[in-house]
Amino acid sequence: MAHEIKSIGVVGAGQMGSGIAHVAALHGVDVLLADLSEERLNAGLATIGNNLSRQVASGRITEAAKKEALGRIKPTTDYKAFGDSDLVIESATESEAVKRTIYGAVCPILKPEAMIATNTSSISITRLAAATDRPERFIGIHFMNPVPVMELVELIRGIATNDSTFESARAFVAKLGKTATVSEDFPAFIVNRILLPMINEAIYTLYEGVGSVDAIDTAMRLGANHPMGPLQLADFIGLDTCLSIMQVLHDGLADSKYRPCPLLVKYVEAGWLGRKAGRGFYDYRGEKPVPTR
Ligand code: CAA
Repeated sequence: MAHEIKSIGVVGAGQMGSGIAHVAALHGVDVLLADLSEERLNAGLATIGNNLSRQVASGRITEAAKKEALGRIKPTTDYKAFGDSDLVIESATESEAVKRTIYGAVCPILKPEAMIATNTSSISITRLAAATDRPERFIGIHFMNPVPVMELVELIRGIATNDSTFESARAFVAKLGKTATVSEDFPAFIVNRILLPMINEAIYTLYEGVGSVDAIDTAMRLGANHPMGPLQLADFIGLDTCLSIMQVLHDGLADSKYRPCPLLVKYVEAGWLGRKAGRGFYDYRGEKPVPTR
């Protein structure tokens, strides 16, 4: 039997967590948004406010709906607030160690029937579930960036996920106005299994000097009708996230076709992580993005 999800906790107020909080609140769900510091929470809330304003400006939602949504999001630095949540969505950084630490802290606070979801883009749901006290009520709910715009959500069952959790998650995704696809628990699921090797290949194309940043992105935007070029998209996703997904594919499938491009590694080592860092394949510090190669 599916349980209706009326209140959620979101762990992580970054790009994805703030997007999830935004969409959930807009669809009538009460949200507790948790992060390590007030500073990060304020940045997340500012992002949500700006993105809601964009939707008001384009007539997609009313000013009243924006106000109501903002009123449903409560920031917190203390997981204790999650005691009444029906579902906690962990949207922390793509590090298994970080996620395990979060589950360890959150599980003792949750009510017994509460579910936990991870927004991981590639890590095994089964393995993450095993780090909690409730693998049968654990599931992958993978949102796409930018969450308020992208229609898809991937649902991934771990080996122990029960039917009630799966149906509750499916109903929750529908309530948010999104379309769900179901994928098996294999490295990077569907979207990233296909998308990231394309991005990695674009970086190899740059690395081998086949084309410049501008040529590669223009080619794929105008030649394949992609809304963003692959290098622009890599910067948008975050180059650290791109690298970690490639590493999960490479380790998990043990096929050399997934080896991360050395140039991607170099950018990450430099701290040029893309848009969020002000620099990646493009430099965003000026008025217009300028290719860095
Ligand atoms: N919040 C709310 N609205 C937003 C928004 C946000 N964060 N970002 C964009 N929008 C809205 C804009 O306001 C605009 O709305 P209207 O049509 O109502 O005017 C609309 O979206 C289009 O935006 P823009 O006109 O600014 O720009 P655009 O046409 O270039 O679209 C884009 C921007 C939607 C991001 C588009 O470039 C796109 O689809 N890019 C590809 C994104 C993608 O592939 N995402 C998946 C990444 S992979 C992933 O997420 C999985 C993972 O685990 C790594």
